[in-house]
Amino acid sequence: MRTAIVAILVLLLVSFLSAAGGDLAPPEASEKARKAADAPDAYETGRLSEFERLRREGEFPKESSEVRGEGSARVLRYMRPIVIGSPCLACHGKPDTIDAEVAKVLSENYPGDRATGHAAGDLRGAVSVTVTLESAGAPAGVTPPPTP
Ligand code: HEC
Repeated sequence: MRTAIVAILVLLLVSFLSAAGGDLAPPEASEKARKAADAPDAYETGRLSEFERLRREGEFPKESSEVRGEGSARVLRYMRPIVIGSPCLACHGKPDTIDAEVAKVLSENYPGDRATGHAAGDLRGAVSVTVTLESAGAPAGVTPPPTP
């Protein structure tokens, strides 16, 4: 019960911060996003599948980075996997194990929520950073995460 109350309070705080602009959170990408803006782009989808394949083979990588061409730019793509631990299951676990009050707040705030059904050890997503190294006409810099 106490865990559920803490989970609800954290949840309200997270959705409040997210609605207020979301830039307090690190840029994340997830194949099963709760927040639509966290859906992965094509590159991230490929890396996430690769992380998942390696996880199944027991060679889970801590991070990945690559310099590549994207359109007319040369960019550095960095990704770091995020793994589900047992405290995460209060809000990302199997629907029938999530406290009813937590489930209610989630469904009210995230109608298209795909971020449940996880078990401890699952790949949840990744922190993803894109740095533009060179581009025709534009200054180099970190690309901010998309705004919802
Ligand atoms: C109290 C409830 C709660 C707990 C506990 C929780 N999350 Fe979340 N999680 C959320 C909410 C709400 C969002 C959507 C945040 C937003 O709107 O920016 C989210 C989003 C995410 C995202 C971004 C991708 C997406 O789906 O939008 C990742 C990655 C994530 N959580 C991982 C974790 C991990 C790993 C843990 C455990 C260490 C965890 N969460 C624990 C509620 C929770």
